[in-house]
Amino acid sequence: MSDEVTYADLKFQDCSRKIKSIQEIDQVGIKAPPARPHVWHRRTLALTLLCLLQLIGLGVLGSIFHLTSKREMEKFKTLHNFKEELQRNISLLLMDNMNSSKKISNLSITLQETATKLCYELYRKEPEHKCKPCPRDWMWHKDRCYILVQKYDTWQNSVLLCSSYNSSLLKIKNKSILEFVTSKEFYNYWLGLSPTKEYNDHNLDERIISSDWFTGNTDVLNSKMNCGYVHRSRVYYADCASQKYSICEKLANLVKIESILMNEVPD
Ligand SMILES: *[C@@H]1O[C@H](CO)[C@@H](O)[C@H](O)[C@H]1NC(C)=O
Ligand SMILES: *[C@@H]1O[C@H](CO)[C@@H](O)[C@H](O)[C@H]1NC(C)=O
Ligand SMILES: *[C@@H]1O[C@H](CO)[C@@H](O)[C@H](O)[C@H]1NC(C)=O
Ligand SMILES: *[C@@H]1O[C@H](CO)[C@@H](O)[C@H](O)[C@H]1NC(C)=O
Ligand SMILES: *[C@@H]1O[C@H](CO)[C@@H](O)[C@H](O)[C@H]1NC(C)=O
Repeated sequence: MSDEVTYADLKFQDCSRKIKSIQEIDQVGIKAPPARPHVWHRRTLALTLLCLLQLIGLGVLGSIFHLTSKREMEKFKTLHNFKEELQRNISLLLMDNMNSSKKISNLSITLQETATKLCYELYRKEPEHKCKPCPRDWMWHKDRCYILVQKYDTWQNSVLLCSSYNSSLLKIKNKSILEFVTSKEFYNYWLGLSPTKEYNDHNLDERIISSDWFTGNTDVLNSKMNCGYVHRSRVYYADCASQKYSICEKLANLVKIESILMNEVPD
């Protein structure tokens, strides 16, 4: 506003200067040809009026500009607030969505666990129930499947046989598997222990944390090695070329939820 006033002042001074110079001409004009003072007075009056009108115009323009910019500012502020609210709402929605998908994944995990437990109950009553996540004739324990191969063979051939089933010779790496094995009382089954020259017989539970479990391939096997086998709850060693049964193990599939509802046995 003060800018406008200053500008108006300047304009006004400009105007006064014009009026003054007209008056001077007027005075000079006295000496000149016969005066017609009323004409000059009218001109001065007209100019003054014109200046006043200019001033008023400027004032009006200024206030219009002021009002308009105030309105624009308000519009801008509203728009800005709307944008912020929208952003807040969107991030709330996103968080809600994330919570929902977390809940859904939690729910589906719970559902899978429940289905597995239920299927295990069904499996205990009907060992070949359709929901069993292991192939036919395989035993199911926790997340693994086991098969007893009731055929005498060398340790090396047993390794090959197990891998032909996409599985490997049994390794007893923790208590859960140990409990399963001791509950079954296996006699003379090859284990997935590394062939060795030096050996001691052990109780199975002393073997759990050992690093002797077989990982490599059978090509390194020479004739003078000894291989481990399970006999009830103990591990013994014998010539790898001698013949024993074998137990193969592999990971179980996931229990299919819909398979629980089918109570027929698989084909
Ligand atoms: C933000 O969400 C609130 C409550 O859900 C709603 O009333 C408001 O209209 C939303 N704002 C915008 C900009 O969508
Ligand atoms: C989403 O979960 C967090 C905690 O995990 C909670 O603080 C927030 O209120 C939840 N949001 C909604 C929209 O449920
Ligand atoms: C699922 O959420 C519940 C609480 O809402 C929690 O107690 C439970 O441990 C969760 N389950 C899984 C598998 O994350
Ligand atoms: C072993 O796995 C391969 C590929 O994963 C598969 O093609 C084959 O059918 C499986 N064999 C058996 C006996 O499961
Ligand atoms: C024992 O080992 C098996 C296979 O290595 C694994 O699936 C299972 O979760 C383990 N159990 C415990 C209690 O560590």
